[in-house]
Amino acid sequence: MPLSSWRELLTFAVALTTVASHSGVAALYTFEKAIEISEESQPQALGNVAALGNLSRHLTSAGPLSYALEMHDAYVSVDSSSGEIRLKASIDLETICRSTAKCPHGGRHAFSVVVRELPPPTQPQLQGRRLARGRFTLIVRDINDHAPRFQSTYEEIQRDESVCLVPGVACPNPRVDLPIAKDDDFSPELSRVTYTIDPASASPETLETFELNVDEYGNPYLLMKKGLDAERQQSYQFDLVAQDGHGRKGRITVRVVIKDVNDNSPEFESKRTSVRVSEDKAKGYVIAKLKARDKDLIHELEYSIDASSPEESRRHFDILSDGSLSIKEPLDYETQAVFFMQVKVSDGRFEDKTVVEVNVEDANDNAPEYEESGQLQIQEGREAGERIGSVRVFDRDSGTSGEVECETRSQHNNRLLSVKFAQLDSPNMFSIHSTKTFDRERDSVVTGTLVCWDRGQPSLTSTYTARVAILDKNDNAPRFLGKDASGIIEAQLMENNRPGAIVTTLKAEDADEGENARLAYRLVGNGDEEFFDIDSVTGEVSARRSFDRERKDSYRLQLEVSDAGQPALTGTAQLRVSITDENDNSPQFKGVTAFQVTENTAPPVLLGVMTASDADVGLNGQVFFTQLSHAHMDRFRVDMNGSLVVTAKLDREEISEYSIPVRVSDRAAAPHSKSTDQLVLVRVLDVNDETPRIIQPASGGNSTGGNGAVVTISIYTHHPGALVQKVHAVDGDEGVNGQISYSLTQDRGSKFSIDANTGEIKVARALDVSDMTRHKLMVQASDRDPVHPRSDAKVIYVDVNDAAPPPSNLLDEAELAAAHTRRNVIIIVILAAVSAVLAIILIIAITCVNRPAAACTARPSTRLAWADEAPSGPRRRRRTSSTWSRRCT
Ligand SMILES: *[C@@H]1O[C@H](CO)[C@@H](O)[C@H](O)[C@H]1NC(C)=O
Ligand SMILES: *[C@@H]1O[C@H](CO)[C@@H](O)[C@H](O)[C@H]1NC(C)=O
Ligand SMILES: *[C@@H]1O[C@H](CO)[C@@H](O)[C@H](O)[C@H]1NC(C)=O
Repeated sequence: MPLSSWRELLTFAVALTTVASHSGVAALYTFEKAIEISEESQPQALGNVAALGNLSRHLTSAGPLSYALEMHDAYVSVDSSSGEIRLKASIDLETICRSTAKCPHGGRHAFSVVVRELPPPTQPQLQGRRLARGRFTLIVRDINDHAPRFQSTYEEIQRDESVCLVPGVACPNPRVDLPIAKDDDFSPELSRVTYTIDPASASPETLETFELNVDEYGNPYLLMKKGLDAERQQSYQFDLVAQDGHGRKGRITVRVVIKDVNDNSPEFESKRTSVRVSEDKAKGYVIAKLKARDKDLIHELEYSIDASSPEESRRHFDILSDGSLSIKEPLDYETQAVFFMQVKVSDGRFEDKTVVEVNVEDANDNAPEYEESGQLQIQEGREAGERIGSVRVFDRDSGTSGEVECETRSQHNNRLLSVKFAQLDSPNMFSIHSTKTFDRERDSVVTGTLVCWDRGQPSLTSTYTARVAILDKNDNAPRFLGKDASGIIEAQLMENNRPGAIVTTLKAEDADEGENARLAYRLVGNGDEEFFDIDSVTGEVSARRSFDRERKDSYRLQLEVSDAGQPALTGTAQLRVSITDENDNSPQFKGVTAFQVTENTAPPVLLGVMTASDADVGLNGQVFFTQLSHAHMDRFRVDMNGSLVVTAKLDREEISEYSIPVRVSDRAAAPHSKSTDQLVLVRVLDVNDETPRIIQPASGGNSTGGNGAVVTISIYTHHPGALVQKVHAVDGDEGVNGQISYSLTQDRGSKFSIDANTGEIKVARALDVSDMTRHKLMVQASDRDPVHPRSDAKVIYVDVNDAAPPPSNLLDEAELAAAHTRRNVIIIVILAAVSAVLAIILIIAITCVNRPAAACTARPSTRLAWADEAPSGPRRRRRTSSTWSRRCT
């Protein structure tokens, strides 16, 4: 440890000892002091610590002192050197003491100041010795800075009315709480509030009715001195004034509203009501208005007919919400003349009742009425005057209002009437008679009227209408509809129909009704009917089988329709079924489809007209032709009507026959049209337009020039009949135009002849030395066209010499060559054989040099055994063996 550190430790210990000795010597001087200020004072000096604590008297130390607050304070500060205490901020008492609990002794604020001697200048880091401690209490005096305050300026208090009927007895619930004012001042003497009613703001009734009181908590309330009756006064209003100890005020307008309660019973004006009403008044007619009163300010009254009233009364009358008594169901004096009922009124709590008596007065409200004896009906066709039925007349009114009289006389002379009435013996009974013969088909119902009246005042009249139904008789025969003048009904059916197809639905009518008009259809006769069926009820005619128009295009059927009357009546008609065409036939070529044309004819040439037929009719049967595409279609034209025209010059030698595809189609609409294709043959006829051409001999001239061919013959070899030269000519024409005939046109001495058909030139007679010269022959080749034959000519020179004939033992050169070839072949074969033998010998020799010679040729199995016995390893042995066998086999 360094020396300096030791010294420091020593210094610290000494200082500690010093402090201890000092504190041990002098006791701390403490004092208390109160400072009074009023709240909300501005910042200011409050005094000096030294002066307030008489420090000069209590502290011996004469040195300078330092002052400090013991704790930080929001309101005061102390100057550390002068000891001056200052108020830093104004104090609102109500802020520091929110409740008296927090500040039980009023607004007090305590703080402490510590007084120290200054530390020696050598050790400024040490705090000086504490010499004194002053506890100060700031007593904050309240000032009246708040007025009493209500929450609002107006308040309405609802209060049910309460009637205190007995004077002197306390009303139930007599207290009405009033709004409370608050004073924010702290001190009780400043914040205590007293309440008064501003007499200027209150009516005398208000002051009479209420008394202002304050309860033990200081809360104001009204005490009712009288009952509250909404029917008498509905509200009270006054100003409530709150005042604190120093006369500051708050004010609120209070309105006490008295609510009405249902404390009054409704009351009918009279306990019994009697009304009169005529029986003829309509439903809904108001016969009386019942009135009830209710003293409550607000009341809703409900009227009803009490359930204790008789059932009849409740059924006939109704009472509405306003007390109107009305008729619910028509009244009838003759049925019930007096009604009683009890009507009740209720306000929801209390009710009252009244008795109502309704007297119904008679009125002549019933006209005469009629009752028929039964159903009124008569069959058509009956004689006039027949009795149809009877009617009784009566009137529901009583007395003279119920006496009836009717008019029957005037109708007896009226011819237009269908029905007349006659008085019967018994009173008010009338019989009903027909006045003519009826036809139901004209009128199914006839009517007649009878007028009657009563003797009431005024008299009521009514009219009776007798409706008489006319019953049907089967007097009309059924009749087919859709017939023409000759009684035929036309129908159409497309051919190829399916069996069962509907042809038509027959319609017939019958003027009668019921069974007399129930119709049944049938087919009669035994002709075409076998192919058809008829539905007897619906009249539907159907085909029994499929029809082919091309075979038969129309059918006739005999029809009959009858009704179900007794006896039955019938009607007839004839049905003609026309079978309509369907495009079911393809057009077919007819007549010639092969044509011929002479070649080279100048176009256009009409070769002919093709024809076709189609079994169908109409457009389905109309046909037209078209040429289908082919290689030479530009040379021909096919018109729609079938005309075949050649449009180019044709060369038979190029093409002698054309096959032209032609289509014949019918004119049916697109998807149904049908067609047939046919190859039409056009043969091109020949004309002799080709000249024969001598092609053999090839060289040499022709008739117009050239050098001509040269043939050499010897008098020794060419004896008569020997061939000198064959001439061959060609001609493109056909028939006689192409057949060639050969001739010699120039042959002096006739030494040669030519076969006209074959063209062979032969020696004609024996030649001798004198003939040894050049002979010029002119060969002509002509075709056999009888009219304009064409020909070609060629010059052939025949040189005749005396060359000797070749020796007979000598083989001619070709034979010699053949012999040579044969010999060479033999030599080659021999050489090949020798080479093969030598090769085999060589191979065997080479093989046998490597192995003992005998082994190879004799007993190969032994050799195999030896190889197995060899001392070498199995692999070697096997390989050896295989090598061997391969070599030797
Ligand atoms: C200081 O001295 C004055 C006058 O002698 C005396 O009135 C006062 O009470 C003393 N203050 C304290 C804190 O002792
Ligand atoms: C056929 O039709 C063509 C072209 O329309 C016409 O020139 C020719 O005279 C017709 N032929 C016949 C036989 O009607
Ligand atoms: C005939 O010969 C002449 C001349 O050589 C030649 O111009 C002509 O074309 C020949 N005629 C025939 C048909 O060969």
